[in-house]
Amino acid sequence: MNSEVTLRPFDLADLDDFYVWASDDQVSAWCGWDTYTSKEDLLIYMKKNVLPHPWTRAICYHGRPVGTILVTPRKGDNRCRCELGYHLASQYWGNGITTKAVKLVLGTVFRDFEDLERVEALVDVENVGSQRVLEKSGFTKEGVLRRYWVHKGKVRDMILYSFISTDPLV
Ligand SMILES: CC(C)(COP(=O)(O)OP(=O)(O)OC[C@H]1O[C@@H](n2cnc3c(N)ncnc32)[C@H](O)[C@@H]1OP(=O)(O)O)[C@@H](O)C(=O)NCCC(=O)NCCS
Repeated sequence: MNSEVTLRPFDLADLDDFYVWASDDQVSAWCGWDTYTSKEDLLIYMKKNVLPHPWTRAICYHGRPVGTILVTPRKGDNRCRCELGYHLASQYWGNGITTKAVKLVLGTVFRDFEDLERVEALVDVENVGSQRVLEKSGFTKEGVLRRYWVHKGKVRDMILYSFISTDPLV
């Protein structure tokens, strides 16, 4: 598994692969965006949000993009922390691919952002698969933020996880 999962920046030639998970209701269910139903709309999103983003990578499996992983650094005095997000095409779920991708991120992101000390992730209390990814990657569960996040019109309880620069890579 280990060498089969790699990360690289996206380019617009990845549109067709990106559309596989962006058009998947199972993937978008836990994400802030709605399922894409047109490649034209996705192309606009990639140009506007994905390519200019400071740290978004394609999760590649045997060289082919199968998902997205990103860290969004805070600006100014709070650039000591960033938020982690990820999603994977559903046909690849349950093979350890995202866990491997998160570990790759943790192995590089503290070097890529000089002032970074903490990577954090917010996960819905019912998104057990995502919680497992973070736990298997060495994140610490800090607590439940009650009635914290409005997700698709509903107020949700969220779990806050963190990994700090001195935590051991697992
Ligand atoms: C969350 C997601 C990225 C996980 O990707 P993945 O590559 O399947 O994750 P991994 O295989 O590395 O690990 C998943 C773990 O969760 C477990 N899991 C998945 N669904 C589960 C469930 N409903 N209940 C209990 N465990 C579950 C798997 O068994 C596995 O744990 P294990 O290795 O101990 O058996 C993927 O399901 C996804 O894209 N979901 C939609 C988008 C999303 O939720 N993004 C995160 C928002 S915070």
